[in-house]
Amino acid sequence: MSTGKKTICIVGGTGAEGSGLAARWAAHGHRVIIGSRDQSKAKSTADALNALTGKTNAEAMESRAGVQAADVVVLTVPFSAQRSTVEGLKSELAGKVLIDVTVPLVPPKVSVVQLPESDSCVVAVQKMLGEQTKVVSAFQNVSAHKLKDLKYEIECDVLVASDDAEARQIGLVLARDAGLRGIDVGSLANSVVAESLTSALIWINRKYKIPDAGIKITGLGD
Ligand SMILES: NC(=O)c1ccc[n+]([C@@H]2O[C@H](COP(=O)([O-])OP(=O)(O)OC[C@H]3O[C@@H](n4cnc5c(N)ncnc54)[C@H](OP(=O)(O)O)[C@@H]3O)[C@@H](O)[C@H]2O)c1
Repeated sequence: MSTGKKTICIVGGTGAEGSGLAARWAAHGHRVIIGSRDQSKAKSTADALNALTGKTNAEAMESRAGVQAADVVVLTVPFSAQRSTVEGLKSELAGKVLIDVTVPLVPPKVSVVQLPESDSCVVAVQKMLGEQTKVVSAFQNVSAHKLKDLKYEIECDVLVASDDAEARQIGLVLARDAGLRGIDVGSLANSVVAESLTSALIWINRKYKIPDAGIKITGLGD
């Protein structure tokens, strides 16, 4: 497993989840490109992340240029924008690893599982992109709530799925570098577990009045 520093472009990196993951990876030492439809919005986020981490690892780009410059691309946009965003970046994504964090939430009933016809929205993206892009599913169950609190130990495992073993390893390494425990859950078809689980976690948050319910896989030891 390579421990080298990567250039990671987060498409949707101006949002809660993307900027939270960006903070952790930038703090770890990766070069993080905040990808956005709006360069000035991306710059505000990158500046804030550099102030937070005390480093200069975050920078801003329009998403297309960011994807071109990246080793690994992370997608953190709303479900309603997932397909159109990926379609628009299809040629730039060829030859890259794409980590898709999308949860197929359909407002207003976000605490109820409403899977798309394809069952898994991440599998649908892999089909759309074809074999040239290695798609990984990860981070769907990690709340954005505490990601920017860099010393906070988030009690949530990251279920990492992909049909490509090397790409899965990259997902596992990036979970670790974000201070989380990545768990290899096998093929991309298993993404549907993480995609569905988030609605139950949102229900738990509301029911028990907590901000960030998570999941832990037992039996693995430390
Ligand atoms: N928030 C969480 O706690 C959490 C936890 C786990 C998983 N997730 C998943 O992560 C993804 C992002 O969540 P989020 O809460 O960070 O979302 P968000 O803040 O609503 O949106 C993230 C970014 O997506 C871009 N975006 C928004 N609408 C778009 C559209 N119509 N077309 C293209 N781009 C659009 C925007 O970036 P620009 O305007 O800069 O382009 C925005 O800043 C979702 O799929 C969510 O289910 C979220």
